[in-house]
Amino acid sequence: MKLHDGYAYAQYFFSANNAATYDSLVSYATFGQDKMWKNQIAKIVDKGGFKPSVILDLAAGTGILSSKLEAGSDAASVCSLDLTFDYLKKAKEKSRQIFLVNSTAELLPFQAGIFDYVVSSYLLKYIDIETVAVESWRVLKQHGIVIFHDFTCPNNQVIQKIWRLYFYLLNLSGKLIKEWEPAFQLLDEVICKNRLWPIDTSQCLRKIGFIEVSCQYHTLGTSAIVSARKP
Ligand SMILES: C[S@@+](CC[C@H](N)C(=O)[O-])C[C@H]1O[C@@H](n2cnc3c(N)ncnc32)[C@H](O)[C@@H]1O
Repeated sequence: MKLHDGYAYAQYFFSANNAATYDSLVSYATFGQDKMWKNQIAKIVDKGGFKPSVILDLAAGTGILSSKLEAGSDAASVCSLDLTFDYLKKAKEKSRQIFLVNSTAELLPFQAGIFDYVVSSYLLKYIDIETVAVESWRVLKQHGIVIFHDFTCPNNQVIQKIWRLYFYLLNLSGKLIKEWEPAFQLLDEVICKNRLWPIDTSQCLRKIGFIEVSCQYHTLGTSAIVSARKP
């Protein structure tokens, strides 16, 4: 299997060195928006109609989204999959019930048709979208729902200027917060390389056969959530 460029970025950004500080970093660095975005994902899951549900969280990291979904209203069973073993160890501290898998989202070690939902937050810039969309289709049950969330590069010129200033300052702060220096230096580049992901992902999901494809932009176009249903 040919590895996507994003694989190298992911290995460079996430490690045992920064697993302990990830949760507070993502909250502060997004000015609390991460919580709002994950609440939106939880709302889509809640409306999806599977109760109780079986959820696969791709690139679950330290389990922020997994534990939110597990604690949601539908008594979900959650499987958290991630490339970075030390992040999964943090996820395990949040919930003993969550099932952990240390693997890549591009080759899912599951049989077909076992999940009601496949969700992910901040994964798409590190993977080949089509490969993950096809794998998501395979592991979803009939009527199952896929939800992808990630940052987007804003189109509005004024917001773009603020966005660039923000990443400039983030880059500088990497000099002080050494464990995050690689990510702070290159995150904007990785996000911009993948700027069309909401459109590409929506098209790709339709091509594979997903229906009810929906794309919502949030926080002045700096983040998007794409969801779809397997017929
Ligand atoms: C920014 S963190 C997001 C963690 C979590 N989803 C959240 O919202 O807090 C990105 C995660 O993607 C994981 N990752 C990157 N590429 C991956 C891949 N190909 N397969 C599985 N996980 C991957 C990294 O290990 C890291 O934990």
